[in-house]
This record gives sequence, structure tokens and C-alpha cells, in this order.
Amino acid sequence: MKHLLKLSDLSSEQIIEILDLADTLKDENKKGIEHHHLKGKTLGMIFTKASTRTRVSFEVGMYQLGGNALFLSGNDLQIGRGEPIEDTARVLSRFLDGIMIRTFKQDDVEKLAEYGSIPIINGLTDYCHPCQVLADLQTIREFKGKLEGLKLAFIGDGNNMANSLIVGCIKVGMSVAIACPKGYEPDADIVKWGYAEGKLTITDSPLEAAQGADVVYTDVWASMGQEGEAQIRRKAFEGFQVNDALMSVTNPGAMVLHCLPAHREEEITAKVLEEHANEIFEEAENRMHAQKAVLVKLLK
Ligand code: CP
Ligand code: NVA
Repeated sequence: MKHLLKLSDLSSEQIIEILDLADTLKDENKKGIEHHHLKGKTLGMIFTKASTRTRVSFEVGMYQLGGNALFLSGNDLQIGRGEPIEDTARVLSRFLDGIMIRTFKQDDVEKLAEYGSIPIINGLTDYCHPCQVLADLQTIREFKGKLEGLKLAFIGDGNNMANSLIVGCIKVGMSVAIACPKGYEPDADIVKWGYAEGKLTITDSPLEAAQGADVVYTDVWASMGQEGEAQIRRKAFEGFQVNDALMSVTNPGAMVLHCLPAHREEEITAKVLEEHANEIFEEAENRMHAQKAVLVKLLK
């Protein structure tokens, strides 16, 4: 494993290895055991979109691993003034030990990896959010004791989260049902792959998707960069809400996860969110543990 650009680049075994290491690092962290695996290493963190969890969890994670993290805002870097990714990659590779990047185009992340000579970690693009799904899988395994055979229902937009959940969940032996309005389906190639694996269903009925689910997942209706479509999307996604009626058809003890930030009373009711707050905020915390595992695997 040289980079983390998207989950489809990883084997099932590599994903499980990351989750196992994430559990170990979390356990050591809770016990106050120091683990300076990345002493003297520096991670650059490029952000051309907002972030709370990703920025703080990577920065604190690097610190806990004995290394250093640099916040590099896209507006302040010369890429904001048109310097090509290809040049940025070659320059930053000479100073840093790894780069985490959050941006719009997946192609920019792939280019960074192609032209740079250090590990690149995708901290979210319009196409996928692999770090989030590693934390999600860690959380599901923590609460359910297993991954294999569980059903995850994703209710909402076929966005970066849906794309990564399909790949990540299926690779660890889960099945995935996506409920989205027509025209808001996940990436066509990922859907094709999921169907070929025999583990994916796509429907425009939220109740059908949630039937017998062990994990219910949702995300905002308008992602970063789609703020201008918020009004249209609010209409299109009417009925695609995680609420009591939807939860009543899931398996008993079903979990609810949300990558956050959440828009209460849009994609999820405040009631359901608060009833599952222990799962959702453990999920947020696990961003740090899962990413520390990725950092150790890539940078050590
Ligand atoms: N879930 C997530 O990636 O959160 P941030 O946008 O706050 O980083
Ligand atoms: N789909 C959301 C996820 C945020 C973590 C977005 O891209 O804005």
C-alpha cells in the first residue's frame, strides 16, 4: 500500500489490517501508552474545502504519533493562483513525508500521487471519502462485534459517502442497500461493481432499503460545492429521511451512523440522531484512530 486514494485500490485483507491496527492504537491511546511511530515525520494537509473532523483528527493524530502536521489552505498555496498540481506535488515531496488532501476532483488527488514521490491520502473528494469509511467500519465492528453478513442501508444522495460505503462495506463481507431519488444514484462504475459482487441493491424506496438493516447511514442532501442546488435538492430528497418510521423496519438494535455535519430535520430527525448519539460520536472519534493506522501503514 503506497497511497490511500480510494478504497477500491485496497484488498479486503488490507482494509482489515488497517482496522486491526486502528483498534490497537485506540486501545493504547485510551491506556495512555505512547506510540511515537512517526517521530520526526511531517504530514502536509491541503484543504480546498471546509473541515472540522478531518483537519483536527489528522493534526492531533500526527502529534500523538510523534510527528508534525502542517495545515495548507488551498487559498494560501500557489495552487489557488493556478500553479499546477504536477509542480506542487514535486515540490512538496521534497519537504514532507506525506500529504493528506481534501478537494473537489478525484483526478487532482490521483495526479498528486502520480507526480509526487510520497504517500498521498484522500481526505475527501466529490467522488469518495475513504478515511471516513475506514472509521465507519471500525465503529460498526466495535458495536456489532463483526462485519461479515451485516446489512447497511444508506438513505439519501448517491454521493462520495455512498460511493465509498458501497466499496468498503462489500469488501469486508457486508451487503449494501442504497435508497436515493432517481437521478441521484451513486457512481455508475461502482454500482456495476457492487451488482457484480451480488451485494448491492439500489432503490428509490427508503423503507425497502431499510428493511432488515443492521446499520442505517445517511449524509447531507447537498454536499460541499453543491450549496447552490440546496433548494432543488431539498425537494428532490423529500421522504429520504432517517426517522422513527424508517427505523421501525430495521433489525432490532440497528445502529445509525452519520459522517457529520448533520442537518437535523432534513436527512435525519433530531430525535433519531440523539438516540444514536453514542454511535455517531464514537464514529467521529474513530476518524482519528483509523487515520493514525493509515498514517503508520503509509509513513512509517
Ligand atoms: N465527516 C467529515 O469528513 O467531517 P469534516 O468535513 O468536518 O472533516
Ligand atoms: N457528502 C458530504 C460529506 C461531508 C463529510 C460532502 O461532501 O460535503
